[in-house]
Amino acid sequence: MFCNRLLILLLSQKDDNTVPYLYLFLGPCFSYCTRCYTMQGASIKQHEIAFGYKGLQIQLFYTAGNLSTLFKVKYSSKVTEAFDCVEPDDVEGKIREIIPSGFTSNADDFTSLLEKEANFKPFGTLLHSYTVHNEEAGEFTYQIHKAEITCPGFREYHERLQTFLMWFIETASFIDADDDRWDFFLIFEKYNKDGETLYATVGYMTVYNYYVYPDKTRPRVSQMLILPPFQGEGHGAQLLEAVHRFYCSLPKVQDITAEDPSENYVKLRDFVLVKLCQNLPSFAEDKLPQGFSADMVQEAQDKLKINKKHARRVYEILRLRATDMSDEKQAREYRLEVKKRLFGPYRKNQRELAKMKKCLRPEELVSHMGQMDTQTQHEELEKSYQDVVEGYRRIIERIATHA
Ligand SMILES: CC(C)(COP(=O)(O)OP(=O)(O)OC[C@H]1O[C@@H](n2cnc3c(N)ncnc32)[C@H](O)[C@@H]1OP(=O)(O)O)[C@@H](O)C(=O)NCCC(=O)NCCS
Repeated sequence: MFCNRLLILLLSQKDDNTVPYLYLFLGPCFSYCTRCYTMQGASIKQHEIAFGYKGLQIQLFYTAGNLSTLFKVKYSSKVTEAFDCVEPDDVEGKIREIIPSGFTSNADDFTSLLEKEANFKPFGTLLHSYTVHNEEAGEFTYQIHKAEITCPGFREYHERLQTFLMWFIETASFIDADDDRWDFFLIFEKYNKDGETLYATVGYMTVYNYYVYPDKTRPRVSQMLILPPFQGEGHGAQLLEAVHRFYCSLPKVQDITAEDPSENYVKLRDFVLVKLCQNLPSFAEDKLPQGFSADMVQEAQDKLKINKKHARRVYEILRLRATDMSDEKQAREYRLEVKKRLFGPYRKNQRELAKMKKCLRPEELVSHMGQMDTQTQHEELEKSYQDVVEGYRRIIERIATHA
């Protein structure tokens, strides 16, 4: 029997228009299932609730590899201008603005697209492959590819792929893929079905190559998404490490940065950079108590294209790992070292206050003094320190279990 996987996105809104849920799950078409995922729920912001429908359901089905799309809007009833004197929200129009043309609304057409999935092959060149062991379903193989916008069919595939940003990242926007400074990295799951090898889309990353005077580039990670059914399995770290290693091999690359990184991205980057740096001689355990050194900055920059700010975080994480925090002297030295860095912005505040004292009228000065009260600064500094250390401990735990 023919069977396949597909990504299903359902937006269901309760009749009282209050609690909409967005579900994405990867499952098989028809009845046969090798690997099912639990549904992931993400609530939609209040102002995105559609007005004027009863039993509204937005159905988006994507074939797992090529992301061919079925789009349908269903509802039991809707308000009409003639009887209710109000217009319902144009839900279909809004979604059509996001999904590219070429989708189908016909289930039979979609079924025939599913049958073509066996013809789908990952775009671009293979950078890295790895396996993940899943307790219930066994071993899975994944491939990371680097694709060019000029690969036949990739432009259209990317248009479908980037629609997921709109469903899962609040501040997402589309990129101008025609700009040849974009690099695209994709992860695929390779699986066998009825003797055939098929591929499912797992996630992707876009990177923009900024120019650095006089002859370097600075790749900047712009978008990164691992589809919800695959999150928390280590794919994000695999992708980031593969991309990092790729740019490290290019002499023209100065260093690698990220645009407006989310908290989760920073966690991922800390883990990957610590993993990469932990074997560098300048980060050796006996060097760590001597402080953050110029050698560390140089080696991280030259060998791994890591900038000074990120190298400093790596140093603090590795030093925490090497510090016996039950030893009062060691713990104190570590605390002072981290607080010294955290204190930077507060010190700037002090300098600004000194300048202000010279030029502000007394009543203006008092209003600014409130923001810079020393006691509050100390409390804030201590809280920042505790938060930083807690985050570092999670990275150290992950290095111990998954690196
Ligand atoms: C942020 C994001 C890219 C991370 O991808 P991911 O594949 O989930 O990342 P990983 O699986 O490598 O790591 C995530 C967690 O899973 C854990 N994990 C990793 N491998 C694991 C494994 N084999 N088994 C169990 N847990 C594992 C990690 O320890 C980590 O836990 P932590 O968050 O407590 O540190 C992904 O969540 C995402 O796409 N989010 C939405 C968009 C976004 O925020 N993008 C980033 C900025 S644009």
